[in-house]
Amino acid sequence: MKDQKNLKKDFPIFSSKAAKKDGKELVYLDSASTTQKPQIVIDSISEYYKTSNANIHRGIYTLSEKATAQYEEARQKTQNFLNAHSANEIIFTRNTTEAINLLAYTFGEKYINEGDEVIVSELEHHSNLIPWQEVVKRKKAILKVIPIKFDYTLDMDAYHALLSPKTKLVAITAMSNVLGTKTPLKEIIESAHKKNAVVLVDGAQSATHQKTDVKALDCDFFTMSSHKMLGPTGVGVLYGKEEILKELPPFMFGGDMIKSVSQYNSVYADIPAKFEAGTPNVAGVIGFGIALDYLQKVGFKTIEQNDKALFSYAVKKLSAHKEVTLLTPPADKNGPVISFTVKGIHPHDIADILSQDNVCIRAGHHCAQPLMEKLGIPATARISFHIYNTPEDIDKMDKTLQKAIKIFE
Ligand code: ALA
Repeated sequence: MKDQKNLKKDFPIFSSKAAKKDGKELVYLDSASTTQKPQIVIDSISEYYKTSNANIHRGIYTLSEKATAQYEEARQKTQNFLNAHSANEIIFTRNTTEAINLLAYTFGEKYINEGDEVIVSELEHHSNLIPWQEVVKRKKAILKVIPIKFDYTLDMDAYHALLSPKTKLVAITAMSNVLGTKTPLKEIIESAHKKNAVVLVDGAQSATHQKTDVKALDCDFFTMSSHKMLGPTGVGVLYGKEEILKELPPFMFGGDMIKSVSQYNSVYADIPAKFEAGTPNVAGVIGFGIALDYLQKVGFKTIEQNDKALFSYAVKKLSAHKEVTLLTPPADKNGPVISFTVKGIHPHDIADILSQDNVCIRAGHHCAQPLMEKLGIPATARISFHIYNTPEDIDKMDKTLQKAIKIFE
């Protein structure tokens, strides 16, 4: 394994003069929001435009065949990354939000009816909540919510009590973007299947930090976003079991998703093309494939070791301040995300003061307003890590935080 300093060198933003602020080096602690990109990902995108740019699936000429081959290779890489049964089970979207909306419109339209139930949890990001709110409104169905316990983990007894023969779908995050809580997916999925409900796992946070095996999990759907996985923005993935995806209607209509079109009728393509109308983000998908290569080369063992070490170190540092309250679940259930509040300082002010020293953290409701309501606070400050972070980053953050605490004393 390369040491951390060398891994940081793979990400040009950390040596970029433009990313410095008043001569201070960039300290990036907002990877749950979006990750930085390694040079090879950046290069792959420019290389594509320089050497292979053409529209895919349409051209009979060599350049288009080359672009198509690279795009479809990224689909195979994604299949391998998730251990999916077939590359046809991989649908490229713009992001996780679009992947969940795709499902809400297609699965929701076809299978959710009046009186049916959809289960989500209090941990969900708005993108895995609002699409389901809309489906149940349209279909006169019922939304049920798994509560969290005092230790910020899911109340699994409550979950089992919520499941019923009317449950059609369970939409659950694998890792909370606010609290870092990892959810017990195996148990959630097995129990839902006993009621013949399907399960969508929102892997936006987890897919970049832990190995995902959709076969072993036996989830019906899984979503993730390239930009949180060291890849470019504008690319998301919906994995779905082939037998379910085949039966769903298309989400968007237009070019590249058809078998044949006559003036008043059309026959749609098979999966995955059925769900990829229009020219996709070809360069982005190719860059995403390279990001997956990079993640796998570093390896989830190394990523998890680094996440755990930084998590413990940051918790130790933050806990030393009596003004700080941590909102973290038990360490064995936590991803590399730490939300906290500081007595007497609004989270936005914390982020603002840290920014003066070029330390980037996120503050706010983190697109999870119902969770904030449950926690009884309007906002938190949040730090989150990835493979390029080091204990020195935590030290720099902590030094400025101490200054902030003194200023507001
Ligand atoms: N979902 C992203 C976050 O948690 C934007 O910051």
